[in-house]
This record gives sequence, C-alpha cells and structure tokens, in this order.
Amino acid sequence: MSEDKNRNSPPERRLTRRGFLKGVGTGLVGTATLQQGLLAAGPEAKVPPADVRGKDITRAVVSLKINGKPYSAEVEPRTMLLSLIRDKLGLTGTKSVCERGECGACTVIMNGKTVYSCMVPALEAHGAEITTVEGLSRGDRLHPVQEEFIKHDGYQCGFCTSGFELALKDLLDKNPNPDLDQIKQGLSGNICRCGAYPHIFEVALELAGKKGGR
Ligand code: FES
Ligand code: FES
Repeated sequence: MSEDKNRNSPPERRLTRRGFLKGVGTGLVGTATLQQGLLAAGPEAKVPPADVRGKDITRAVVSLKINGKPYSAEVEPRTMLLSLIRDKLGLTGTKSVCERGECGACTVIMNGKTVYSCMVPALEAHGAEITTVEGLSRGDRLHPVQEEFIKHDGYQCGFCTSGFELALKDLLDKNPNPDLDQIKQGLSGNICRCGAYPHIFEVALELAGKKGGR
C-alpha cells in the first residue's frame, strides 16, 4: 500500500480485467507488445493505466480513492475489490460473508452506485471513487444513518450492518423521502440473517420523515 501519486487524475480511464488479461496474453510475445496491449492509452485516456511491475505480467498496480483518500496497491487479475479493500488496505468495516453476490454484506458505493465489492474485479476499480462504511462518519460525528441504526437497534450480529448503511445512504441520496415499499425495494439487495428488518425499516422511515409507515 502506498499513497497515490496521481491523486488528481479523473476516473474516466478504467482498466478492466478483460483488458488486463488481454494485455497479459499479448504480452507473452514480448514486452513491447505488452506495452501496447495493456499500457497503451487511447487519446481519450485521462487516468494512467495500472502499472505493471517489471516483467511480472501477472500483477498490476491499481490506484483509486476510498473515502476521499488516494490509495495504490498491487493486485492480481483474480483479486476482487472486497479483498483489495479489506486485506490489502485494511479497511475491515466492509464485511466478507457469502463472497458470491448474494448477501450484500460487502456493499460499497463506487462512482455513485452501490456494488457488491466481492463481485467487482479490483482492476475495474482503477481510477474509481469509493465510499466504505469508514467514510460515513465525520470525525467523532456519526452519519445520521449510523445514529438511527443505533437508536432503533438496527442490527444484532452486525455483519450485514455496514452494507445496509451504505445501501440506505445511497437510497436516501437518490430519493430523500422513500415510502416503505421503496425502502424495501432499495434495500432488497441486502440480507440480514438475524431478521433485524423491522428495525432497519424503522431506521429508514425515520430518516425519510415517515416514521410509522405514513
Ligand atoms: S459478501 Fe458480497 S454479496 Fe455477500
Ligand atoms: S444483524 Fe446479523 S445479519 Fe443482520
């Protein structure tokens, strides 16, 4: 892990896993070809592509912003964003549960949309802006979503909580006054095994100014 030297680079240019693998395959012919297949950027490119270390064509350096802070880390093509966030960057508030896109515990906000970080190749997050649960609070001040989760006991074991908080934040950012049906739909990608749903819906209704389901 290291601080990103390209912190002002916009996120338009993103290296995809397919592009990386293509570059790897082409690179078997020689480094010059690899430079074209993987590293060469079109005229529209703004973000430098991920850096390939020496002749090791099985790894690349991904640079991204998490909670406004720039990070860079070396990843393999198989590394998923969840692993990058938790294992390489140490932001363990994002939870790993099913790791196959079913539970939503690993939800983060990437470029303004919620994603299952266990299903996003880390290479696809090159140049991205990501919000994790660690980015919700401001210093000692919790985010209103977090305060209401505490007030309404919106969790039991807590494994689903960070994913629910980010999904609810994203829902309220896009629709500040959802009704109960819209809340259920907005949170339908997240599963709580402990069955804290009534409390989680109370949280959402409170924040939407519709406590009681009005
Ligand atoms: S851990 Fe990603 S969806 Fe379950
Ligand atoms: S609080 Fe345990 S899974 Fe939701």
